[in-house]
This record gives sequence, structure tokens and C-alpha cells, in this order.
Amino acid sequence: MEKKNFKRTLITTALPYANGPVHIGHLAGVYVPADIYARYKRLRGEEVLLIGGSDEHGVPITIKAKKEGITPQDVVDRYHNIIKDSFEELGISFDYYGRTTSDTHRKTASDFFRRLYDKGEFIEKSSMQLYDPEANQFLADRYVTGTCPHCGNEHAYGDQCEACGTSLNATDLINPRSAITGNVPVLKETSHWFLPLDKWEPKLREWILEDHKEWKTNVYGQCKSWLDMGLQPRAVSRDLDWGIPVPVEGAEGKVLYVWFDAPIGYISNTIDCVGEGWEKWWKDPETRMLHFIGKDNIVFHCIVFPSMLMADGSYNLPDNVPANEFLNLEDDKISTSRNWAVWLHEYLRELPGKQDVLRYVLTANAPETKDNNFTWKDFQARNNSELVAILGNFINRALVLTHKYFEGIVPPAGELTDTDRELIAEIGRLKEEMTEALETFHFREALRVAMDMARAGNKYLQETEPWKTAKTDMARTATVLNIALQTCANLAIAFEPFLPFMAARLLKMLGGDKITWDMLGCFDLIPAGAKIGSPELLFEKIEDSVVEEQMAKLLRAKEENLLAAWKPAEVKETVDFPTFEKMDIRVGKVLECEKVPKADKLLKFRIDDGMGGRTIVSGIAKHYKPEDLVGKEVCFIANFEPRKLKGVVSEGMILSAQDADGRLVVIGPHGEVRPGSSVG
Ligand code: 2FM
Ligand code: ZN
Repeated sequence: MEKKNFKRTLITTALPYANGPVHIGHLAGVYVPADIYARYKRLRGEEVLLIGGSDEHGVPITIKAKKEGITPQDVVDRYHNIIKDSFEELGISFDYYGRTTSDTHRKTASDFFRRLYDKGEFIEKSSMQLYDPEANQFLADRYVTGTCPHCGNEHAYGDQCEACGTSLNATDLINPRSAITGNVPVLKETSHWFLPLDKWEPKLREWILEDHKEWKTNVYGQCKSWLDMGLQPRAVSRDLDWGIPVPVEGAEGKVLYVWFDAPIGYISNTIDCVGEGWEKWWKDPETRMLHFIGKDNIVFHCIVFPSMLMADGSYNLPDNVPANEFLNLEDDKISTSRNWAVWLHEYLRELPGKQDVLRYVLTANAPETKDNNFTWKDFQARNNSELVAILGNFINRALVLTHKYFEGIVPPAGELTDTDRELIAEIGRLKEEMTEALETFHFREALRVAMDMARAGNKYLQETEPWKTAKTDMARTATVLNIALQTCANLAIAFEPFLPFMAARLLKMLGGDKITWDMLGCFDLIPAGAKIGSPELLFEKIEDSVVEEQMAKLLRAKEENLLAAWKPAEVKETVDFPTFEKMDIRVGKVLECEKVPKADKLLKFRIDDGMGGRTIVSGIAKHYKPEDLVGKEVCFIANFEPRKLKGVVSEGMILSAQDADGRLVVIGPHGEVRPGSSVG
């Protein structure tokens, strides 16, 4: 399709549920890339709105309230403020960050539903839905879990399987269970309003599959497979007491489905942001709309919300939905319930002044095409060997040398050499590459290219050696430092979308104020004769202790979770005394112990069993060093069938207990007994 010329861009970011703080997975997937794009567009002088807000309805909120014994309103009040403040502190430049419990939103969402209702766009029908009689509650969405009929994930929710992304109806789940009581639900009749997605299928097919072949492959592919499976009508109301009441007579006790009201939140928050002129942002075909989301939200933003907008008929559809994959943490899935996450508000408190470092690392590792991984070691390495050693180092050298040789006054540039011209041309080339990458949502690539500009600066100083020419040729030194300072100004522009705090400080040091994308590539940005500020270090080395502390914090969380989740195993089938007596358990004393070669789990013991001794091989090498148990008494099964393990014949089994964290602890007597004594 022909590329459209848009006049302005409306950028929306997925509204995070206000049932907990945001973590690095949310940031890497949605908020940092959206902010980079918005900042870049503003630098280009384009009209942009960056809209965000908290998603304050739905079952995630009521589940949290129930768990904490507080009201849903208390939950959203607490987390909305934490989320909003932490986004602001990280420099996410929302033009407006709202909430779906606002009056504007309640009215906007009700009016939207009512318009569709009046146009006859819904099907009202009774159906049998899952119900928990003990909780006296219909089980929609996250109130019910079960096995996904598409991928077999056993923890799918009633409205979506997060493992394969499929959107589900609660009744699709295999072996459903109430998330409130754990009971098997019963079916009970209830009536709801359904949006016939099937009605919009032909239009959706044309709009996505024909007109938007440029969408990211992950997004396009997911849409194609849903469309190919065929769309079904989808319920847009729920039997819940938390949400926006269905604005229709006789709908007592029914609220709008959270995924019906939440995306309308983008509209409400635009209204609260710009007031009367809001419609141009949603209805003028010259406005380009982009939804920044994570991959679990693709179906709602590419199929469900667009069907709602089509049913209304007066709104634009998104021009692109640059959804990202997921970020893992230390090679494990980020999980709120297991507390396996780096929480933004905690990061900001524990590593103050390091907003740009986090933004940098999350962008450099952004899960743009596949799931990616965050590790504290990589965080430290990227800070120390990229931000400090490449970017910070170049800027610092340029500023320090200017102070040393020219008392902090920008020296004039004289005649240029080939080396000077090469640097200027290189920055120009890199600008083109960056622009292309930013325009196509390849933010990792754009950041890498920005870093190449700093690399080019370092190479330039290495080649021109102003500290040497200062001894013989001050005019040449002046030219080199002029160009180095102009490069610093270029870096302030190139990095502004990524590292806005650094860019502002650098600009202040250089005495600049307003920057634009057009200025990038120019080498007359700071006039000769201008006074520059004293050089401050823009990045500091991160010591091992800082990341070790963060790792320890994560591991503590993991352990606490394991302990909290631990339950003794179920008692096995009853055995009678003669059966028990068949087991010959004895006490033995460890005489010798050594590792079994080429087997990292096995230890070989020589045991005094009161009968001349025996060899036992045991799989506890991960839990004990060979010398730990020598001289100690242990219990073992004496009549266990001999087995050959890694070439060693084991004549028994040493008994041990397994702790909640998987640790094995060897069992022994609590008083002195002779080796060979029977246990029973
Ligand atoms: O997945 C989520 O966290 C949802 N709260 C996202 C909503 S996005 C939008 F539509 F509001
Ligand atoms: Zn699934």
C-alpha cells in the first residue's frame, strides 16, 4: 500500500493493571520504546501525543483486593500513584497519564457502549457460564484457570492463554478450576452482550493482511493465524461488582468487560489531555495512531479494539502495533507472583540517578524480535564498558582538553584535514542509519548506531592526538577540539531519545538549549568563543558489590517463595508391619568418601557397617563435599539391591531428607550406636 503522509502521531502505551508496580519487563516491552519514539518525533518537530494510564478495572484488581483484605479502590489508588510517579522519574514523557476510574473515562466508555448498543452492534444472548456456588460468583477471566485447548498450558485464564496468546472464553478451558476456592465450577445461565467479531472478519483481513504487510512479523503472524481460525462473537460484559456498569436498563450487576473499557481509556485520556480538540487525534485520517504493547496484548489491539472502532465507524484504526516479545530476568520468566522481577520503583530508590543506565540496558537488550534476557552482570558490563568507557570517556576527554588548553572557551576551527572531514561524513552517515532504524521501530539498532557515533569520536581523538599537537600547533589543536565539541553536541541530540537525563546535562555543559533532529550531523552547533561548563562525569563505574547486592535480593525472593509455597508431600499408601519389616535400615559410620569421576552428582562412600564394611554410591555431591561426612554416622538401607553406578557397585542406599529448596540432608542417629545397629 502507498505510504500515507500523516500530519501528527498519537502514540498509546498499554495501560498497566494497577494491581502492582511495574517491572523491567513492562519497561523494555512497551514504555521505553514508546518514549524513545515520542522523543524522536518531537525532536523532528512533529506533532505528537504520548498517552498512557492505569488499567483499574477487571479481575486482576479484585483478586488483589481480596488477597490483601482491602477494597479494589484502595488497590488502584495505591498502585496508580506508584506507577505514575516511577514512570515520571524514569523520564517516560507522557503528555498524559490517566486512569480508568476517572469520571471522563466512565462517561466515555459508557457512551461508547451505548452508541454501539443503539446501532444494534451487539448480540444479547443467554448462555451457560462457569459459576462457583461457594463463592457465589460467576467465574470469568482470571477468576478461572484451566488447560488451554490450543497449546495445553495448564495455567490459562478464562479470557486468555498467556503461553500461546490465544484469546479464550472461560467455557473453552479444559479442567476449569475456580481461582477463588479451587472448586470445580458448575454451569449457570446468565445473559450478556456480545460483539460479533465474525462480522468484522472480512474487513480485518483486508486491513491487516492486505494493507499492513509492513507490520512486525510476530504481530502480522499472530493476526493471520487468528483470522485463519475464524472469529467468534465475544462477550463484552461481565457479572462482577467492580467495573463500569453496563449502561442499559435491566443490566443490574453487570459491568463492561475490562478489555472493552481499557482501550477506550486511550480515548478518555486523550480527552483529558487536550480537551475539546481531542477528536482530531482520533478521527482525522491525517493522524497516525500507534499502539505500543507487549505480545500478550496483540489480539486485543489488532482484532477486538479495531472491531469496536469499526462498529462505531467514526474512528481511525491503528497504523501500526509494534508489539514486543517478553524480557526474561536472569534466564527465568519474570513473574509477579513469584516476585522474580526488578521493580521500577525499587530500582529508582536503590540505584538513584541511574535512570539512563536502565533505559540504555533495556533498549540494548530489547525483546524486539524474540524473548530476551536481563542479567545484572550484563547491566554492569554495559554501563562500565559502553556508557563509561565509550560515551562518557569521549565527552569527558573533549571537555577536559578544552578546559586544559583553552580555559573552557570553544576554540575556532581552522582549515579541515581529511581526518576531520571523515568524522563529519561518518556522523552524517550514522544519522541516516539511525533515522531509518527509528522510523521502523528498530530501537536496539538505532541505539547501537548512536554508540557508533561516540566510537567515531574516540577514534578521532586517538588519531588527531590534540594532547600532542598542543605542544607544537595550537591552531590545529583548536580545530580538533572544536570538532570534538561539535561531536559532543551531536551526541546530545542522538542520545536524547534514549538517555534524556544525560543529554540534558551534556547540553547544559555545552551551553546549548534547544535541539532538533535537523541539527544532527551539523558541525556549527556551538559557536567559537562560547564558554562551556566544567566537565562533570556523566556516567560512573558500577562496582561488583552493587550488582551482587541486587542478585542476592533476587535470590532471597526466590527462596522466600519456595519456602512459602512448600507443602509436605502427600502420605503414601498404607503399608502393614511385615511390609515395613522387609526394609533393613541400619546405622553405619562413614570411613571414607570421594567423588565419582565423570559424575558430578555422585559421591562414593566406604561405610563401616559392623560386618566388614561396604561401598555405597549416593547422589548427594551437590550438597556435600567428600570430607563433610567422614567420621559421621548415617542411616542406610542394607538390603537394597546392589546397583552399578558409573562403574562402581553400590551396596545400599544412604537415607536423606529433601528440604523445601531441594537441598538433601543426610539422616543419622541422635545418640551413639554401634555401626550395623538396626533401625526400626
Ligand atoms: O495486559 C495488561 O496489563 C492490560 N492491562 C493492558 C491493557 S492495554 C489497553 F487496552 F488498555
Ligand atoms: Zn495456549
